[in-house]
Amino acid sequence: MPELIPILTTSKIDEKVTALAGRISSDYKDRDLVMIGVLKGAFIFLADLLRRLTIPVTVDFIQVSSYGKSAKSSGEITVLKPISVDITGKHVLLVEDIIDTGLTLNRMTDYIGSLGAATVGICAMIDKRERRECDVPVDYVGHVVEDGFLVGYGLDYAEQYRELPAIYHLKF
Ligand code: IMP
Ligand code: MG
Repeated sequence: MPELIPILTTSKIDEKVTALAGRISSDYKDRDLVMIGVLKGAFIFLADLLRRLTIPVTVDFIQVSSYGKSAKSSGEITVLKPISVDITGKHVLLVEDIIDTGLTLNRMTDYIGSLGAATVGICAMIDKRERRECDVPVDYVGHVVEDGFLVGYGLDYAEQYRELPAIYHLKF
């Protein structure tokens, strides 16, 4: 059985999400904000962030195939579930569970920009630095880790563990 080593407790997560929501509320207070959650991992983080915002927001989701893992190949992202709101001229904040190589968000930023967004920002619960392959300007980060495979709070390993309310390092 793999071991679950606690990384962030529910109260730590709460603290970090509240701080991020505060910054986002103040940074976007005079702009049309569209938050786009990257499925599936970001759904819990996005839901928590939203409820702590003090400004109006439009919500949508996107799902792309993750080429990030295998890749030396720099193939384009395949959009599995496109967004369904008009983001022309809007200020988009992409909300992601975790950034690893950075390839997914790098391509998604270009893609969202190509749909006519005025600005495209990035908010990630976890910034994992070890395997970064490209420069991704992450505007809002909940927590930085150097390495390890994390699960819980939406993060999965083979579609398991998403339901855990805290974040753990899954040690094999
Ligand atoms: P990348 O930044 O393109 O490498 O892709 C990041 C995506 O890989 C994330 O959105 C997650 O879906 C997945 N991922 C990377 N590291 C982890 C992890 O530690 N736990 C769970 N999923 C991860
Ligand atoms: Mg993901």
